[in-house]
Amino acid sequence: MEQRGVFWPMAFEATVTECAVRGEIPRDIFGGFYRNGPTQKFPARQGNETVFTTDGMVQGLVIENGKASFRNRWVRTPKFCAEEKAGQALFEWTDCNAQDWTALGLGDIIRNRYTEGVSHSTAMVNAFPFAGDVYAVGEQSGAPLVLDPFTLETKGYPVWADRLSDGIRPGVAFGDRNMAPHPKWDSETGVLYAWGYRDEPPYVTLHWVNPDGSMQSKELDEAPYGTVAHDCWLTENYFILPFQPFLISREQANKGIGGYGWEPELPISLAIVNRHDIDAPVRWITADIEPQYMMHMLSANEVGDQILLDAPLFQRPPFQTIEMSQPGDPFIPFFQVAPSKLGRWTVDLKAGTVRSEVLDDVMCELPKIDERFFGKPYQWGFIIGGQASSSRPGAMRMDTLIKRDMRSGADVRHQISDNRHHAVLEPAFIPRTADAAEGDGYLIVPISKFAEHLGEYQIFDAADITQGPIATIELPFHMGWTPHGHWMDFRSVNSIGSSVVRIPAHHGAEAPWIAG
Ligand SMILES: [Fe+2]
Repeated sequence: MEQRGVFWPMAFEATVTECAVRGEIPRDIFGGFYRNGPTQKFPARQGNETVFTTDGMVQGLVIENGKASFRNRWVRTPKFCAEEKAGQALFEWTDCNAQDWTALGLGDIIRNRYTEGVSHSTAMVNAFPFAGDVYAVGEQSGAPLVLDPFTLETKGYPVWADRLSDGIRPGVAFGDRNMAPHPKWDSETGVLYAWGYRDEPPYVTLHWVNPDGSMQSKELDEAPYGTVAHDCWLTENYFILPFQPFLISREQANKGIGGYGWEPELPISLAIVNRHDIDAPVRWITADIEPQYMMHMLSANEVGDQILLDAPLFQRPPFQTIEMSQPGDPFIPFFQVAPSKLGRWTVDLKAGTVRSEVLDDVMCELPKIDERFFGKPYQWGFIIGGQASSSRPGAMRMDTLIKRDMRSGADVRHQISDNRHHAVLEPAFIPRTADAAEGDGYLIVPISKFAEHLGEYQIFDAADITQGPIATIELPFHMGWTPHGHWMDFRSVNSIGSSVVRIPAHHGAEAPWIAG
């Protein structure tokens, strides 16, 4: 992955105690917007930075009383701490030698005396609120790490870190387990619905984590294959995980042909789990539909015997695989690989069937909802829309905020920027008050003006996004690329101050100071 353009890393830690603001931030907003992304500190020893080997950096924007403060901090993983102490990269991977798309960092770690027994975790995909703290999580990169919501100091691993299951590589240190980057949560009970995945049976293990640190786990014994289990849906009664033939293979990564595969002849299968009884039998439904792919889920509604699963729908995963690219071909960023449009899979629980449809012609991704409504019926979807890229056929460029009524199908849009050197990133919803109705509140959208080395957050009143932002929070430097993040509302009861005891992140990660 070439860290230029939108991927240009921040490469420094900053604190802006009071950001410059155009317009007015509503004074009823009180919370933090946390985003995570790969931000180069030390490249792999091979000199290469890849999607999954790059250190995670969390950007936190705390809003209170009409003012905003900004911080960004690297996640102090054992890898980061060891390399910072050494003043240089210590880790190398079998698949970090190539200067092309195959260098993903999904292969084995080539151990040396400085990394023996040290977790390779990079925690660089998402940041989400749980049990009063911010959790940073990667893809195939260990348990999440816990960060202080105000200082972004890395506190360490949660006590339940070592009770998670393994990823594609066996663990070598405390917390060196696996958690997929898009867990869901129930805002009333505080339960976190998480899982880990790997490329051999049992392919997926579910973990329901309570705010007090207790946890229930279950292996999906009947899973058909080793899918990239990136995201899920949560409804009133079900946790639904799709098995799509976007495959992950450590062995393939070690061979230097990329760790991902796309085998559309395999059927899509849905694991439908009773979320109130993790031990209940899992219902498996195989979808008799054309090859397609959903990467990020909007949300889902149960209607009678049907479950409506909503998400942007691709014709193939937006990642290069050996089926489409040759070794030596350059890395192509995600939305340049394939475009997506809002789609729906309608599951008929009685008939055991799945129907697929495209709901809208507009290209879109990065779907979000009012996250107090995870696991509940929902009406409002917030998505970043785009248009066909002029620079590459079959690619999309994201530029527009869309608010969609998922019941009526009506939507309203606001084009945020038509500048191709601006990246409109994933939005988040902020409730107007802690107990406001679904969708009553604000939307916050990060915009990276990477060519100008500037960043900003635009805040919209969700009641009418067509009026444009009501406030723009400026950053006097570029903000790098962050794929995902979430809003943590400090007004919610019991949202701050977890009692979960933690193990220091650097546990077992002592690396000697080495020269040169
Ligand atoms: Fe994602």
